[in-house]
Amino acid sequence: MNVLVIGSGAREHAIAWSILKDPRVQKLYLAPGNGGARELGAIAERAPIKATDIDALLAFAKTKRIDLTVVGPEQPLELGVVNRFQAEGLNIIGPTKEAARLETSKAFAKAFMRRHRIPTAAFETFANHDEAKAFVERQTKFPIVVKASGLAAGKGVVIATSKSDALEALRAMFEQRLFGDAGSEVVIEEFLQGEEASVFVITDGEHYKLLPTAQDHKRIGEGDTGKNTGGMGAYSPAPIVTPDVMRNIERHIIQPTLRAMREEGTPYRGFLYVGLMICEGEPKVVEFNARLGDPEAQVVLPLLETSLLEILLATLDGRLRELEVKIADKCAATVVMASKGYPDQCETGKLITGQCHFELACYAGARDDVMIFHAGTTFENGKLYSNGGRVLSVTAVASSLEECLARCYDAISQIHFEGAYYRRDIGWRALRNLQTQR
Ligand code: AMP
Ligand code: GLY
Repeated sequence: MNVLVIGSGAREHAIAWSILKDPRVQKLYLAPGNGGARELGAIAERAPIKATDIDALLAFAKTKRIDLTVVGPEQPLELGVVNRFQAEGLNIIGPTKEAARLETSKAFAKAFMRRHRIPTAAFETFANHDEAKAFVERQTKFPIVVKASGLAAGKGVVIATSKSDALEALRAMFEQRLFGDAGSEVVIEEFLQGEEASVFVITDGEHYKLLPTAQDHKRIGEGDTGKNTGGMGAYSPAPIVTPDVMRNIERHIIQPTLRAMREEGTPYRGFLYVGLMICEGEPKVVEFNARLGDPEAQVVLPLLETSLLEILLATLDGRLRELEVKIADKCAATVVMASKGYPDQCETGKLITGQCHFELACYAGARDDVMIFHAGTTFENGKLYSNGGRVLSVTAVASSLEECLARCYDAISQIHFEGAYYRRDIGWRALRNLQTQR
């Protein structure tokens, strides 16, 4: 079986690594992938095609007789990669662009949740600056949350602690067009108190299977301070999602969402990522994403005991109901090593040395519990260089979160590049929760 994975992050490295555990794979291509592809062995190869070049991806899939394509990031979903592949009779995992609006248009997602009484923050949507301003002027309670409706690489959300901050956010979106068309429609919503968690499902449109839960660390600074990033680390499972909370999420969020998507004529197939705020045991949707998270995939996938390839094939064939998805009774953690300056302008092209050169495959291999997933790396003339904001996602699996984190930080201490930055407090909330539960 020939497989194509679209994307270039650590999430896609982890997806490829996970799929390759299945002996049915003959060849796996990453388009465009990163410097980590060579760690996967001769079976894996990079295809120099951008994740957004749908014509080239389609031509490649036909030429290479690809049996299954998996979409990592959201941009190709918005561009209709799934619609195009399906129209040509090619197997692909992901929602159509219509179904992907759950992520690509926050205005759509919020209106959908309101229509179907799915718990979420109270909100209003505006396509007009003056009306949005007038709404903010009437508010008496802060913070409020101002969001660009469209895709903004995780940067289009402003938690405004005052009226003037909210008005400033509106100016940035409507006047300065900081997020381009993504900010021509704006959602203003209630600020939710609580603790965040991410729940992942894979669905064939009708049935779904739960994947491990996770918690991300979006802020650049320790103690969850500073700017929002793509994600600086994650762990799984998220202790805040107790079995009771999960039952509630399935009944009041996942099942009604999938049912309503079918009823509206846009059945949702693929990975669905539900970002939640859990407030005194009550979950509310903060956002939907039409894909796996990054860095959450790096902790969710290593905990699957059932073959990911088998799960994906069952999803395509509508056999998901019969499939038992086994999850290891373990924990996983990942710590992201980023370039100096991230999430703003950052320094790249730095030589990466230590256990993360190609020996890292041996390191990971020798200790099957440590995986170094690459993000912004490139391999040139036998050397590994940084090539982006988030560089490596150092991951460990163990029987306790403490042990996972110890292994991640031990591995990190053996990896070097100039200006490397990582948070030293990944998992702090879970460690605190676990301590109070003990
Ligand atoms: P989003 O892109 O919608 O997930 O927003 C990014 C981050 O902003 C979330 O992960 C939350 O940390 C925060 N956030 C978004 N919406 C809210 C809200 N209504 N209340 C509190 N925090 C929020
Ligand atoms: N880790 C957040 C995301 O993938 O959107």
